[in-house]
Amino acid sequence: MLSFTENKDEIIKYLVSKGFLVSSDFFDKVKEEFDAEELCKKLESCNPKPFILSEKVFLSLKEKKDSEDNLNFEIISEEKEENRLLILKNYVEVNKKKEVMDFVDYFRARYNSLKNLLMNRPELQNATSINRILNKSDKDRVALIGIVRDKSTTKNGNLMITLEDLTGEIKVLVNKNKPELFESTKDILLDEVIGVLGANSEKIVFVNEILFPDVPVNNELKKLDREEYVVFTSDLHVGGKVFFENNFLKFISWLNGDYGGEEHKEIAKKVKYLFIGGDLVEGVGVYPNQDKDLIIQDIYDQYNKLTEYISKIRKDLKIITIGGNHDALRLSEPQPIVDKKIAPGLYELENVIFLTNPSMVNIFSRDGFPGFNILLYHGGSFPYISENVDSIRKNGRLDRPDLIMKYLLQRRHLAVSHTSTLYVPGNEDHLVIDRVPDFFISGHIHKTVVNNYRNVTLIGCGCWTDQTEDQEKRGIVPDPNRVILVNLQTREVKILNFED
Ligand SMILES: [Fe+2]
Repeated sequence: MLSFTENKDEIIKYLVSKGFLVSSDFFDKVKEEFDAEELCKKLESCNPKPFILSEKVFLSLKEKKDSEDNLNFEIISEEKEENRLLILKNYVEVNKKKEVMDFVDYFRARYNSLKNLLMNRPELQNATSINRILNKSDKDRVALIGIVRDKSTTKNGNLMITLEDLTGEIKVLVNKNKPELFESTKDILLDEVIGVLGANSEKIVFVNEILFPDVPVNNELKKLDREEYVVFTSDLHVGGKVFFENNFLKFISWLNGDYGGEEHKEIAKKVKYLFIGGDLVEGVGVYPNQDKDLIIQDIYDQYNKLTEYISKIRKDLKIITIGGNHDALRLSEPQPIVDKKIAPGLYELENVIFLTNPSMVNIFSRDGFPGFNILLYHGGSFPYISENVDSIRKNGRLDRPDLIMKYLLQRRHLAVSHTSTLYVPGNEDHLVIDRVPDFFISGHIHKTVVNNYRNVTLIGCGCWTDQTEDQEKRGIVPDPNRVILVNLQTREVKILNFED
């Protein structure tokens, strides 16, 4: 039995580890000593099992105490088994002062997670630790896994990488006479975790092949056995002068089945989930002199206006959203959810689910079908990746979020280098892509792009704002007023344009 007031963080972490997501109003009702283990047992015995713990769930549990009658929870997004929504990954903030050791733990956690993924590759199953390779005198073939500490060009024009693991560091050399390998090595960034196959010689490994954690080549393109749709969008920027209000309202009308041709209206009715990739509002003080770009100057009023729009959407359509760098949130990732005090109206809408940036959900799972994993990431690291990865810089930079997403999937990490985004260190690295998604959703750079990498659908969601001076300075040329519609039965993707 734990005191709730003293152990709130610990209790939340425990509940999340058991697969429950805790809504802030759940704990508004908790006043007494708290037995998290007992609570989980009760929840497990419920049919259907709730996964978002809200005030209503708490009240239902209270009822259970008094009677053993069957409970009928009002459960967000799980009222119909066939439309099941599960939250696979959502960050839980633990209030703790950060110290230098947290950075050490963070990179250790990253190394271990990605090493485990790499060790699924047969070539790396017997990878040797760096200190053992350094102690070898023979010129053996070796396999190792390390985090990239340094990368440089030698005077002969070859590439030299310093790799580090928990036992030491070693130099590995990629010869320019292996053109394919040499080209792909140019794209490697600091702090990536990679596998190396090569030949050991005098404390240097001559590289034959580099392996990335990556998506398995046999990753399946999952399809649903019935016609259901999902829609992806992002970067509304409500409150900005150049927010395309009329077009956004047209999109809402379409979602409600009130706009477009008959065929389109039929499809709209079959949309079960709407995903939003962050930047719900334009925000306040995001960049210097932003006030001249605002039509709504107050952040609370911006969220009130957003609530007005979102409340027009039919209530049987679930809306899953994360925040972005323009929302009223800290910039460090993972970004938590927008506080109830800032957007109280949105919290009252029962079809809206706030998740952290990044997060992962699963939809439409049932017996015999694993459902679709959807990875949501606003895209804070994208500008860095587009400038620093050789092949992306040469092939479109910020115009190609699909190339950026492919790159991050190969690395199985959302912000590969230490300086690619602001982050919160700790004993877990929440930016590791530990599960392969079926859909990887992003926003931030306002481009509407769809591509496929090993059966993962890569989606840059576009936006609902025209270009501001700030976007221009950052090299962002938006593709506004478009949404991505996916038929989950066929996996066919359509880009719908709501521009006047
Ligand atoms: Fe944005």
